[in-house]
Amino acid sequence: MKIDGKNYRSIWQENDRIWIIDQTFLPHEVKITELQDLAAATFAIREMQVRGAPLIGATAAYGLAIAMRENASDTNLADAFDALLATRPTAVNLRWALERMRGLLANLPATERPAAAMTEAAKIANEDIAINEAIGNHGLEVIRTIVAAKKDQGPINILTHCNAGWIATVDWGTALAPIYKAIEAGIDLHVWVDETRPRNQGAALTAWELGAHGVPHHVIVDNAGGHLMQRGLVDLCIVGTDRTTAAGDVCNKIGTYLKAVAAKDNGIPFYVALPTPTIDWTIEDGLQIPIEQRAATEVTHVWGQGSDGSRQSVLVTPAKSPARNDAFDVTPARLVTGLITEVGVIDASPTGLASIRKDAA
Ligand code: MRU
Repeated sequence: MKIDGKNYRSIWQENDRIWIIDQTFLPHEVKITELQDLAAATFAIREMQVRGAPLIGATAAYGLAIAMRENASDTNLADAFDALLATRPTAVNLRWALERMRGLLANLPATERPAAAMTEAAKIANEDIAINEAIGNHGLEVIRTIVAAKKDQGPINILTHCNAGWIATVDWGTALAPIYKAIEAGIDLHVWVDETRPRNQGAALTAWELGAHGVPHHVIVDNAGGHLMQRGLVDLCIVGTDRTTAAGDVCNKIGTYLKAVAAKDNGIPFYVALPTPTIDWTIEDGLQIPIEQRAATEVTHVWGQGSDGSRQSVLVTPAKSPARNDAFDVTPARLVTGLITEVGVIDASPTGLASIRKDAA
């Protein structure tokens, strides 16, 4: 997608060098950083310079490729795999990408690993783009159905949570891909952007992306969604996911569950957009998904731009109040209207998931 009219991916390769947009500086600065070594790749994922389930997977793949460039021995392959896997626990794309890379590399002589690893990482990144564009096309049909039901009574209002846009993937995004496709198709729409405390991925990243692509939107506080739904101001919810189980339970950014409950109570369709590498076929019950516990300082402090333009963190709680920071929650399948995948829209149910298993990446 574009920044100031120029096409970007969220991670890209130039010759043998790998670059990312450091998302901790957005929306106020577009800072581009090189992943020079394995340590830089693990740091980028852990400290959320890159984030979003598909992008975490692609970055891990490139991280393993960079590690092979440094030392392609069996021991280093195992150590790099473990170091990357330990960066973040919830998004299953991380494990998916690493296992795919290791599956290929373990069968090759060490001399062939560096080149093969770079090729495979690039393949994973390119596939992610194609997958997300397909999600966009399937999601566009969902949006068209809502438009038809609304019978030209004003724009359709879509609520989204966190950032599942192009910078959460290699390109296009998951939840935002149908929105970009709908804008391309000339559909009149407006997006409610949940701010998504504590790290404000909605306010900082989704609003930045939508603004750059001319998508009408308003940022709302996290607690506003239910109220807007009661007033008839939300026609559709679309969110992303970090891990969806084989029975259709959806793990996503903290606060997603409450939006799904409110959507159900108000009869509003609640869709989840996901690439099939986000499906954890080994788990049925979403409550078994490991939920990342992050630093309390993300709750007690907020990052922003000061009046002098500098990046600042301010304390918003009493200095001694403890805080708890669960980064994700689980929305049970019964609250999900449908899953928008690259192979089509399916029911969030064991049968729905089973119907696409043979076509899944
Ligand atoms: O903690 P983050 O910013 O990595 O969480 C991101 C999300 O929860 C996204 O909604 C999810 O990864 C889907 S991204 C296409």
